[in-house]
Amino acid sequence: MEFKIDGKSHHKARACTIKTAHSTIQTPVFMPVGTQAIVKALDANDMLELGAKIILGNTYHLYLRPGSKTVKKFGGLHGFSKFPNSFLTDSGGFQAFSLSDNSKPDENGITFKSHIDGSKHYFTPQSVLDTQYDLGSDIMMILDDLVALPNTKERIKKSIERTTKWAKEAITYHKEQQSKGIGVDQNIFAIIQGGTDKEFRKLSATQLCELDFDGFAIGGLSVGEPNEDMYETVEWTTDFMPLDKPRYLMGVGTPEDLIENIERGVDMFDCVMPTRNARNGTLFTSYGKINIKNAKYKEDEAPIDPECDCYTCKNFSKAYLNHLFRAGEISYFRLGSMHNIRYYLNLMKQAREAILADNWLEFKKEFYAKRGVTKE
Ligand code: GUN
Ligand code: ZN
Repeated sequence: MEFKIDGKSHHKARACTIKTAHSTIQTPVFMPVGTQAIVKALDANDMLELGAKIILGNTYHLYLRPGSKTVKKFGGLHGFSKFPNSFLTDSGGFQAFSLSDNSKPDENGITFKSHIDGSKHYFTPQSVLDTQYDLGSDIMMILDDLVALPNTKERIKKSIERTTKWAKEAITYHKEQQSKGIGVDQNIFAIIQGGTDKEFRKLSATQLCELDFDGFAIGGLSVGEPNEDMYETVEWTTDFMPLDKPRYLMGVGTPEDLIENIERGVDMFDCVMPTRNARNGTLFTSYGKINIKNAKYKEDEAPIDPECDCYTCKNFSKAYLNHLFRAGEISYFRLGSMHNIRYYLNLMKQAREAILADNWLEFKKEFYAKRGVTKE
């Protein structure tokens, strides 16, 4: 993949371009979550109209159902879903950890039980790449060893050691496969672990960033720790990450989290928040969140966000969406999800413009002021 820095602004905020085999991605970028090879309630055409250049799929789910061989038969994620732009796939480590009743890591991989039928499976650093070769994702994540926080120092240390060991095995395997013509257009990212402990994060980052990965992620955050701890950990960790490769903060976050972490040097984000919240009735606007089921919107003629250019906001009132939500109409899920995704993508576009114009602080101040927050 090609990577270039287009501009920098306050502190570590930067705007970059990432070119994969399927799309050109301008950063900062938010990747909508499409666990089952598409974003819930939407399809490939909706994602194109929303302007998504990359979405995230989940190896864990697609491996269990329909199976990576089926996806491969249909031309990988791109052929199967008909979404022509890029896919990033998570490795399955995190999902095995969070969705399986009793996932168990050992030195060579992770044993877990399917959340669908209880069947037993084993993921290794090599097997999750084989699955991702079948899926044909543009960016593949390595298998990492997750730990619940808070945890003992010994367990966090073990997680870093294992993640480094698995990362080395993954990069060696990937180079071997590429020399055989497999996964030639696919990129591979490592995942830095270490909880909120600075020494562990430094250790994990320095060990992984020595290796020849195409990009690096910060994992193991947004798992219930206070926001300030997340920001501090990212601030600390990005200093040990190379400037000339993409940086991805996994599973984050709110609009505020994105703004704070862009300033701390992050280029890429993913989160279920815009889509999951939309389905629950929570919609994002330039002036903060609203809950569309609230009775006060029953007669409200205005769109969700007067500043939004999405299909939903251009056509429908809050009153209509309030009605669809209360009536339990499935159309609401589509209209609400489209708006929230467009809100996130527009926020990233504005952030990029602010970085390129080198007026990040002004942009950030206005972002908070509109939400009624005064922040220096
Ligand atoms: N998604 C959110 N956090 C993580 C993480 O630490 N590892 C992986 N593999 N996926 C994640
Ligand atoms: Zn909208």
